[in-house]
Amino acid sequence: MPMVDMKDMLTHAYRNAYAVGGFDLVSLDFLEAIVAAAEQTRSPVILSLAESHFEYYDFELVMAAVETAAQRASVPIAIHLDHGASHASAVRAIRYGCNGVMVDASHEIFTGNVALTRNVVEMAHACGIAVEGELGYVAGVEGEDAQKHPGETIYTSIEEAELYVQRTGVDFLAVSIGTVHGRMRGKPRLDFERLKRINETLHVPLVIHGGTGLSDDQFRRLIGNGVSKINYYTALADTAAARIRSDARNDRTCGYTGLTKGIRDAIRSEVERCMVLWGSAGRAAEVLAQCGLWQPIHHVIVYNAAESSASEVAAIMARGHGVLSEIPGVRRVVTGWSAQETSRFRYCWLIEFAHRKVIDSYRDHPDHVAFANDVFRPVANERISLDFIAMGTTRQQTYDKFDFEAQASRRMA
Ligand code: 13P
Repeated sequence: MPMVDMKDMLTHAYRNAYAVGGFDLVSLDFLEAIVAAAEQTRSPVILSLAESHFEYYDFELVMAAVETAAQRASVPIAIHLDHGASHASAVRAIRYGCNGVMVDASHEIFTGNVALTRNVVEMAHACGIAVEGELGYVAGVEGEDAQKHPGETIYTSIEEAELYVQRTGVDFLAVSIGTVHGRMRGKPRLDFERLKRINETLHVPLVIHGGTGLSDDQFRRLIGNGVSKINYYTALADTAAARIRSDARNDRTCGYTGLTKGIRDAIRSEVERCMVLWGSAGRAAEVLAQCGLWQPIHHVIVYNAAESSASEVAAIMARGHGVLSEIPGVRRVVTGWSAQETSRFRYCWLIEFAHRKVIDSYRDHPDHVAFANDVFRPVANERISLDFIAMGTTRQQTYDKFDFEAQASRRMA
């Protein structure tokens, strides 16, 4: 189950002067290709889902596949919301399985950006989730021509960056130093001096958006100045599209599968090139050994409600579903009846938390406190509750490869 803590992953990259790719995916072909490249090069990887792409796929459905791919992989993986637009987006992404979120309030004035980001950081940190913020403005749109979106690049100010990190508590900072999202016109000119000074001032993992179109040398210089995560998408989308066009030319009658069958190979080889160039290739074993594994919690309650009818219990369950599943860090609420009439306890709740920290933040959340004290506890007169660390399932072939006890105590300092 090698989903790992994203803060640990990028701290490892920062300390060891390499960068992990945050590859945006828009389909199962992208997902399979990115994971296959990571397996092939033994690289940690960030599976990234950009909110601007949600019009092209169903986020919830795709996340089910992303999470399964991460759990099945033998290399360390983090799942990240890219360019989250709001607090609600971040809560939803955590519910669907992201263990890192970006809040992009870079279009706001400084104080507005700080306020919005701080709000997300408080919520996400209470759920054990790492947060990326952006200061300055990286123009353009992923997957499109930069000149179609001529918004003005605003370079990150060094003084503001220091205040921003202090005031928001972000774990990683996306900086604007001359890259743009999408296809660039001409050769990008990057302000390395600014990047160097930001890095010397902040000492936090830095993120570059708009990785497409940079030269090998520019990548090396970025990484040499504290860049630990590089976001990359347009080049993958263009590689896939070029492959479709060429397959269509070669076989004018082929159907959907004929047109798309080459996509995975095309994307995989570009991702592998990046992993080797950015220095993440060959790091999987170190990252797995030194970073905390991602271990969700299952909060289980079994109980009896001697004074209540089955329909009263059902009504309380329905009400609890509505209230509890909205609490940040709660991924799923399952309620049920014992399948055996004779069992010691009749009713059950299973509430899946994103992370161990949610045990506390859920317990203290006002909506939980009100529901538990006013509705649930008065009727659940006899009950047991337990919090399980969800370590894996027998279906996951990697389950027995890890020493989970050692992992649990091996959080990076
Ligand atoms: P490119 O599409 O320019 O590679 O940028 C990707 C990105 O920054 C996603 O956040």
